[in-house]
This record gives sequence, C-alpha cells and structure tokens, in this order.
Amino acid sequence: IEVGGQEHFYLEGQAALVSPQENGDMVVQSSTQHPTEIQHKVADALGLPMHAVRVEVRRMGGGFGGKESQGNALAIACAVVAARSGRPAKMRYDRDDDFIITGKRHDIRVDYRAGFDHEGRVLGVDFTHYLRCGWSMDLSLPVADRAMLHADNAYDLPVARITSHRLRTNMASATAFRGFGGPQGMVGIERVMDHIAHVLGRDPFEVRRRNYYAEARAEGPGASGGSFPAKMKDAPGVTPYGMAVEDFILGTLTGRLAQSCDYDRRRAEIAAWNAAQPVLKRGIALSPVKFGISFTLTHLNQAGALVHVYQDGSIQMNHGGTEMGQGLFQKVAQVAATRFGVGIDRVKITATDTGKVPNTSATAASSGTDLNGMAVKAACDEICGRIAAIVAPDLQAQPRDVVFEGGMVRAGTAAMPFEQAVAKAYMARVSLSATGFYRTPKIAWDRIAGHGRPFLYFAYGAACSEVVIDTLTGENRILRTDILHDAGASLNPALDIGQIEGGFVQGAGWLTTEDLVWDGQGRLRTHAPSTYKIPACS
Ligand code: HPA
Ligand code: CA
Repeated sequence: IEVGGQEHFYLEGQAALVSPQENGDMVVQSSTQHPTEIQHKVADALGLPMHAVRVEVRRMGGGFGGKESQGNALAIACAVVAARSGRPAKMRYDRDDDFIITGKRHDIRVDYRAGFDHEGRVLGVDFTHYLRCGWSMDLSLPVADRAMLHADNAYDLPVARITSHRLRTNMASATAFRGFGGPQGMVGIERVMDHIAHVLGRDPFEVRRRNYYAEARAEGPGASGGSFPAKMKDAPGVTPYGMAVEDFILGTLTGRLAQSCDYDRRRAEIAAWNAAQPVLKRGIALSPVKFGISFTLTHLNQAGALVHVYQDGSIQMNHGGTEMGQGLFQKVAQVAATRFGVGIDRVKITATDTGKVPNTSATAASSGTDLNGMAVKAACDEICGRIAAIVAPDLQAQPRDVVFEGGMVRAGTAAMPFEQAVAKAYMARVSLSATGFYRTPKIAWDRIAGHGRPFLYFAYGAACSEVVIDTLTGENRILRTDILHDAGASLNPALDIGQIEGGFVQGAGWLTTEDLVWDGQGRLRTHAPSTYKIPACS
C-alpha cells in the first residue's frame, strides 16, 4: 500500500522577526513549535552562545508539526540580516512559497506479507517501510521510528519483522506532521486486516477484534460494558518492541462504538443497498487506533515552568509549551487555577520565552499538556506549600491540612481569602515565585536494539465511517462518522472535542481529496488552495 504526503495548511504561514539588541544579542519572534531549537540554530549561525539569543512565541496560527523545524530557515536568514545591518529583519513566506519550500508529511510505501489462520488470526507479519525523506534528515529519523512503533496498531502479532528504509531524495525535506509517522505505520496493518477479511469473506471488524491485544483488567463498575465481551487474559500482550500493553481498552471501546453507531444493522443494510445499486456503492468501516504517548527520543520528555504570585494575589505563569490553537495555554492555566483554588481570571500566561523557561522540547508528540501541565503543577505546589507553612498557625492547623479552594485558603472551618494568605506570605518575606520541572517517569528505550518502553501510555480511539462512491466518476462522500475517543480525565472537554474532530477531518483530507503533484522538472504544481483541496463543508 502507498499513501501520499500532506501539506500542513496552517492558516498562518511561516514567519520570523529578529531584532538586534546591545552587545550583538538577538531577540527572535518566530512562528515556531520549538523556540529552543530556533534559539540553538540562530546562536549557531551567528557564532553566539545560546544566552545571547532569546526566542519568544506568543502563539501560532496553526502548526500540525509544520512548525517543529521549518521555522529555522527564516529565523536564521533574518538573524544574519539583522547581525549584518544592525536593524530588525522580518520574513514571511507567502502561501505559494510556503507550499513549495517547506516540508510535508512523509509519503510511504508499505510492503507486507502476512500469515493467518482460518479464523483470521494473524500468525506472523513481515513489513517493509519506504519513507521518502527529501534532501535532509530533518525529523525523518524519529518519524520513521514512530511508523515502525505503530506497525502493530491494536493487534497482538505473534511474530513480526518490521524493516524501515529512509530514502534520501532530491526534494523538499519531509517533516513532522500530526501523528508523526504513526498513521503511516498503522495504515499497513489496517490494510492487512482488510486483506485477510477479504480473502476469508469475513467482516473486517470481526477480524480486527480477533487480533486485538488482551484487554486491560476492568476497574470499577461499568468498566467492561459494550456489546462484545472483551478478551480478558491474565497477562498483557507485548508489542514487537517488547513493551507490555497494560492499558489496552479497544475491545471495550470499539464494542461500545459498534453498538452506539449501530454497526451490524447498517452493514447489513448497506450490503442489501449495494446489491440493488449498479453505480453508487456504499461502505462502512470501523477502525481502532492505539497511539504511543511520549517522544521516542527519551531525553525530550521533560518540561519546565515558571510561576509568580504577586502581592495582590494575581498569578503570572510561563511554561515551555507553545500555543498553536490547540488550547494548551487554557489547559495549563486551568492547572494553575486549580492548584491555587482560584478562578482562571486570576491567571495570566505570558508568551513562551526561552529567557524564562530554558531547554524546552518542541510542543509535539501529543505531550504538551502532560509535560507542561505537570511542570506548572510542580511550581504551583511549591508555592502553595510555602504559603501553607505561613498561614497554618492562623488557621490553627498543620501545613499539610491547609487546602486551596474556592478562592480561599482553609483548614477545617477556618479560612482566609487567597489574596490575604498571599499578603501574609509576602510580609513574612517568603518567596512567591518558583520554577517547576517534570520528567516523564517509567520510560526506557534502547532505539538501536529496538527494545524497551518508549511510551508512558497509549491513547485509544476509534472511528466508524460510512461512505458512498460513484463507481463511474470516483466522486465520493463521507455520509456519517461516529468517533469514540478515550480522553481520560479531560481537563477541557470542549478543547478535546475540537482536537478530535479537527484531527479526524484533517486525516480524512489526507486520505481523500489532498494530493501533492510534482511535474517532470520536480516543480510542485499543487501550491495553493486552487489546486490542493483540503476538506470543506457545504
Ligand atoms: N513524536 C511526535 N513528535 C515528535 C517526536 C515524537 O516522537 N519527536 C519529535 N517530535
Ligand atoms: Ca508546509
């Protein structure tokens, strides 16, 4: 199976502004998911130490991975001009240039061979990945690694061989794109499942379920609902790279989805409809996803935060993540407000700034909230502990019994307003500023051996889509999609629903209308919305 690349089509194109400071220092404003990398590259280009370059990101108008590395070129170009001229320099790609110059999703070819029994149970699979990387490494190494680490998707493969070729080609360098190789890897095994079902004449969903990893042990009432009894084994399945899948819930999750979207009845109804229709054909498919959460380059799984509480009880906060419309700043502000027990209106998040929080990782790998939220939590808890120690005697309590909630600091029935507690701590000469730091626990990954635990946990979801295609013209429509996604304890359901719906629509565009076309001279002919069709509604 071959799957093409994809243009990010962030609404705001790549942009950078570099302003020279005294002593040759530089301040960079950049539309980037990775301020520290911009800092590093600009410092390297100008022969400066990193402390001479400060990078600030207020927000991006969309990223999707397209701003994990692709902002470097503009920032460096501006920095060189600013250093030579002593004047600020700004650069912004127009849409066509942005399309032509910047990297896109890696296109992939997956060759496969699979053995299976009469029930559709996979006995062994051999995958070979070919990823087109373009003229430089950029992020192709971790992208191609992630494709390999998702070659199993939801399925316990008794024997698997996964080979990956990263192809250097004379083209724009492919880069990070939402899913970061994961979707490309999953497409291979999902095709295998459909191929097996086709050969055996079985329902593809049934073949999928038959191959699932063992379900995690149900916890609490109602945890094992759904129309299909989930497999319950004593031992969790193990991925081809040796990680135990301890949190697998797709048996239950897809069972519930099949029930709520009426899969069986609609599949039968569609079969009858297709038998009667010569030209228009409908189809329905239910696809599970298991996605590994953590950067596969283990050292990147760290984050920092800086929190100040001012004398008046207002809070200013900074963390290493970047806002690109995904709502990270809202979620992290909620974390701070919750720890201090105050309303979110009291919390201000300032622009991401390498001078406030250093050595950050890209906001990527679905880890922005986990990493930065935990770093902010650590900083807030440090300050809360200091305040609690000061006010505990007034509340006739031990510091450990002091809680922050409802705008109050309380212990039992004794309470004082948050700002009063803050003022007391200030008068007692206690620091109301703290840094926070977080490193993801439990992960240990040997990428050369291809063995270990690269991910802290897996995220799970599934979608069931019904489509219709005109078999004469190829015109097609998605008629209905039902998505069930395990968001865990969602910090903000509205933002999560937005990400789930947006992610689905972006994926649907990748696999239907979006098509990158280069001509015989290597020129990209699809470099504007006139010729490159992202999903629209009508
Ligand atoms: N996943 C997603 N994005 C990333 C990763 C990764 O492992 N590494 C760098 N960016
Ligand atoms: Ca791009």
